[in-house]
Amino acid sequence: MARSDKLYSVAAIFDKPDGIIHAAEKVKDAGYKQFDVNTSYPIHGMDNAMGLSSSKVGYVTLAAGLFGGTFILLFMWWTLAESYPLFIGGKPFFSLPAFFPITFETSILFGAVATFIALITVFFKLPYNNHPLHDTNYMKRVSVDKYGIYILAEDEKFDKDEIIELFKSLGASSIELIYLPKEEKYGMLQPKFMLFLLVVIVGISGATYFTLNKLMYMTPFNWMEYQDKSNPQESSLFFADKRSMRTPVEGTVARGFIPYPYKGIAYPKEVLSNPTLPSKEILKLGKEKYLTFCSPCHGDYGEGTSRLNGQFPTGPTQHSDKVRNYKDGMLYHIITNGQNSMPAYDKQISRKERWAIVDYIRVLQRAKNAKKSDLVEIKKESSTNGQ
Ligand code: HEC
Repeated sequence: MARSDKLYSVAAIFDKPDGIIHAAEKVKDAGYKQFDVNTSYPIHGMDNAMGLSSSKVGYVTLAAGLFGGTFILLFMWWTLAESYPLFIGGKPFFSLPAFFPITFETSILFGAVATFIALITVFFKLPYNNHPLHDTNYMKRVSVDKYGIYILAEDEKFDKDEIIELFKSLGASSIELIYLPKEEKYGMLQPKFMLFLLVVIVGISGATYFTLNKLMYMTPFNWMEYQDKSNPQESSLFFADKRSMRTPVEGTVARGFIPYPYKGIAYPKEVLSNPTLPSKEILKLGKEKYLTFCSPCHGDYGEGTSRLNGQFPTGPTQHSDKVRNYKDGMLYHIITNGQNSMPAYDKQISRKERWAIVDYIRVLQRAKNAKKSDLVEIKKESSTNGQ
């Protein structure tokens, strides 16, 4: 390649690994800072001989990782707690544990990508795509069987003749002056290269588009995401209230669903009797459904301890005399129809499950108001502890 008359560095070739280690030590001791060594394989002890400190690239990774983690946490807070809060199973809007995996992954992603970009730009000086050492005799020889060292002209102590003397005294087998190449800074941005890049990009995209769309007719070109249906939470252009999620049409009955005839808050005159026997199995079902549907507002033990942090009126306790004296049928009635601000659960909880919840509430009530007669005496076993 064409060279200018600006000196880049003075380079020396050594024949033996010992020689290069010795030379690196001496160059460091002489006070030079801008120098480097080229060998065709790693040489033990070279880092020490050159006085290299550890790489700075770790700081870039750390900073970018921290930035990525903070950014994504704020982003999740903004989307999930601020801009479009979605109420999911009684969890707080900003629910930190659920955000850990994404925060972790985003930190890694930012760290890795920033490290790569920093390496090729800052550390390898990307717009210069040809290193001044390329295409020199020096580089040809150190890539095969010689050991080389060069001191950059940028070094504060740089003095051509002094360095040549130093290299000679260290026993260099040959010394080479390396000049900067002529105007190659933005080699990458030359029209020829840009044209090449354009052809590659257009070619690959075109071929991919043609193959996927015309030959294989597959995702994303089968347009399956455009269907005549509404996805959950999607707004609707058809209904006046713009909701696409609809309650069942008035008067229709879903298969396997038996309509509940008693509307309103008042307890129906007909006595609703509990058809379940509180077996272990039923109580297990009731507990499961209670914890799923009722506990967010009424608390795990029905004590009126909502975990919704005021997002919804707190459900009252199940241990008031009023509720304890309700008939089973009244509890069933409330679950089915709701009561004032409490929503109806007939569409979400089956009949059997509703009665099971009633049984489970009875268990909670008895547990919280146990009488002495409820206690079972456990006889002390006399010989178990061996005394
Ligand atoms: C979204 C919150 C919420 C959920 C979930 C909820 N409730 Fe309620 N519940 C309330 C509120 C609020 C009231 C008080 C309504 C009122 O002002 O009459 C209430 C009232 C009640 C009452 C009447 C209490 C009284 O003192 O009159 C009972 C019984 C009851 N709920 C049982 C249940 C059961 C069983 C479930 C689960 C199937 C359930 N609730 C789910 C909020 C809720």
